[in-house]
Amino acid sequence: MKTIRAVEFKDGKLFFINQTKLPLAEEIISTDDYERIALAIERLEVRGAPAIGVAAAYGLALALKNIPSSEQSKIFFKAFERLASTRPTAVNLFFALNEIKKVFDQNSASNLCEQILERAKTIHEDDIKLCNLIASNGLKIFSKKSRVLTHCNAGALATSGDGTAVNVIRKAFENGLVEFVFADETRPLLQGSRLTAWELDKYGIPFSINTDSTAAFLMQQNKIDLVIVGADRISANGDTANKIGTYNLAVLCKHHNIPFYIAAPSTSVDRLCPSGSHIKIEERDHRELTRIGDKQITRDEYPAYCPAFDVTPNNLITAIITEKQVYKPPYNFSHV
Ligand code: MRU
Repeated sequence: MKTIRAVEFKDGKLFFINQTKLPLAEEIISTDDYERIALAIERLEVRGAPAIGVAAAYGLALALKNIPSSEQSKIFFKAFERLASTRPTAVNLFFALNEIKKVFDQNSASNLCEQILERAKTIHEDDIKLCNLIASNGLKIFSKKSRVLTHCNAGALATSGDGTAVNVIRKAFENGLVEFVFADETRPLLQGSRLTAWELDKYGIPFSINTDSTAAFLMQQNKIDLVIVGADRISANGDTANKIGTYNLAVLCKHHNIPFYIAAPSTSVDRLCPSGSHIKIEERDHRELTRIGDKQITRDEYPAYCPAFDVTPNNLITAIITEKQVYKPPYNFSHV
């Protein structure tokens, strides 16, 4: 199967696929400027919880390049704050920034830049490994060849490896356990119809895209065997923040008696967050609703509510697949 890499680091630069252009254009952007990386995260050129963590880690390493030791502390914290301010919900971003900060706090000025870059590289390598382990563990949820529905994009584009929920689907497909994939288009930014569809097409997995509101009808017609999605932040009790519309799906699954799974690395678990009500939900610019891309579809002056994520309560989640194991309720991630 084809390998997709959303972010890569080579020759002292971060390379990333501009995901706002997919699937109509495959544009690669390269930069050694942390401000450009922060902008890429805000604009969703780089997106998905693990991918933004890896990009931000490299951003901090690049911020210190060629900075005299007397200036390092000032620049480091400026870059740290800038990158931390990009998107509030995915905990992976803060996990990666804090891991880099530990290196900053522990190392002397002489080799600081190299040490930070090394740590960014291990965060990157670990993410690739976690994606593979999640896919292997994910095989355990399949009892037959299944028709799967997914929401948003939790694939290779959302990580620095092969993805989480889509990687489970991909591995299961390779093992003859996936018959067909339904990809919710995922309004307003269409990560499903643009990004998940692009990945599934590249992998040769049979799929179709549907409006988010079609999911109930598909379930009513017995066309869905299971739903699997990613996560931006999993609280200690298992409540899970993911792309807006995920909670709708979990409620629908409960009504139709369909299993609902989360697949995510343990870097998406926030052990210090007791429950979903403590998760900060990003609100996006209301023009993401009044326009589709550059096309105006309604008046910008109309009031609009545009949360990027919602929280699915733990009692609606059949199991949470991480690189460690498939967790079943009752969830307690306070030590994971
Ligand atoms: O706003 P996005 O596109 O960054 O939202 C992404 C999601 O909601 C994904 O499902 C989540 O980050 C998991 S990625 C493996």
